[in-house]
Amino acid sequence: MRQYHYDVKQYPLAGIALKSVQKYYPDVKDLSLLHEHVPTKKIGELAKIIGKDLADGCFYVIFDELIKDHISLGEILVQRFGNIRINIPNQDKDGTVLPFHQGQWVGNGLGLRTVWLPFTDAYDSNSLQIVNLMDSRAITDACKEWDYLRLQEECKKSCEPVNLKNGQFILFTQEHIHGAAPNRTGKTRMSVDVRLLLKDGQPHRKWPGAYFRKLGDTDIHSRKVEIKEDDNVVMYAEYEGFKTRYIDLHFQTLTVKDYCNRMGYTFPHQTGDNEGRRHTYLEYLIQEGNLNHIMMFSIFSLPDDYARRVYIMRLAVALKVKLHFANEEFVLDSWEMLDKIEYLRNFTTDWSNPVYESSNMALARNE
Ligand SMILES: [Fe+2]
Repeated sequence: MRQYHYDVKQYPLAGIALKSVQKYYPDVKDLSLLHEHVPTKKIGELAKIIGKDLADGCFYVIFDELIKDHISLGEILVQRFGNIRINIPNQDKDGTVLPFHQGQWVGNGLGLRTVWLPFTDAYDSNSLQIVNLMDSRAITDACKEWDYLRLQEECKKSCEPVNLKNGQFILFTQEHIHGAAPNRTGKTRMSVDVRLLLKDGQPHRKWPGAYFRKLGDTDIHSRKVEIKEDDNVVMYAEYEGFKTRYIDLHFQTLTVKDYCNRMGYTFPHQTGDNEGRRHTYLEYLIQEGNLNHIMMFSIFSLPDDYARRVYIMRLAVALKVKLHFANEEFVLDSWEMLDKIEYLRNFTTDWSNPVYESSNMALARNE
């Protein structure tokens, strides 16, 4: 775990968060007293709204600069939407104490790192409670036979609060066990946590493109591409990809339907490829399908084979058939987008599972 300091004037992240809260609760002058103005039952909703607002504004432009200027982990991807946490006093009364856990138990691969950055003073029981790496590993090894409560108790014994002020953040690994305690400080702690993915790192369930974006690519909400009334549109499903092989039609459909709802598109006619036929129907649809738009589940619905994938994408761009990728909210309509999709698809090849398989991205003992 590493701690960093930054200049709050140059990177006014907490100020942006406060302004965002004030849009909904103008009486909040100090985020640590937020609980005096926001009803307890509205806290969860507020955290979600603020998360969206920050993604729409300049927050991540500044955040990415902060990361570039302070962290040297080589080439990295950044979580598309950070998580906003609002930890009010006595949150145990409402049953919202964060249990102890670690990243690899919640779908994060070992190639991820977590940036944890408070907007308020974070201290004692209002802060994140974290177990050092050595003890985290010992607990992980020992806990296989423990029940849930025993795990929580053992973590409580070894954890320590992260004491930080506005202008500081920490970076920790997916092996660090962490959680929260009942907040008895009388002060609200508000923070953001944003995951990073190392080049060639193990992402596990957090896919480049949908969950991760390129560092500096803060156009988080994709440009909405116009679909004209007389445009021909289909949804296309396939099961050829190493990631999409087990995403059955129902789930691909739900993702595309959700994308259509968000973008205000009508859900189109549905079609799909023949399993085992190497996307030949997609190739035909682009060339001779008389279509303007083809919607599919993900950039991982494209062929896994590099040459075949690039051929299909080039064909679509050249023939002006727009490919929509619902999970990522991308539309392939330019050579630039083709490059972006390739960058994300090639960012890592380590698709092992940190819980059941060993990975070459396991951390050095001293990290
Ligand atoms: Fe966590």
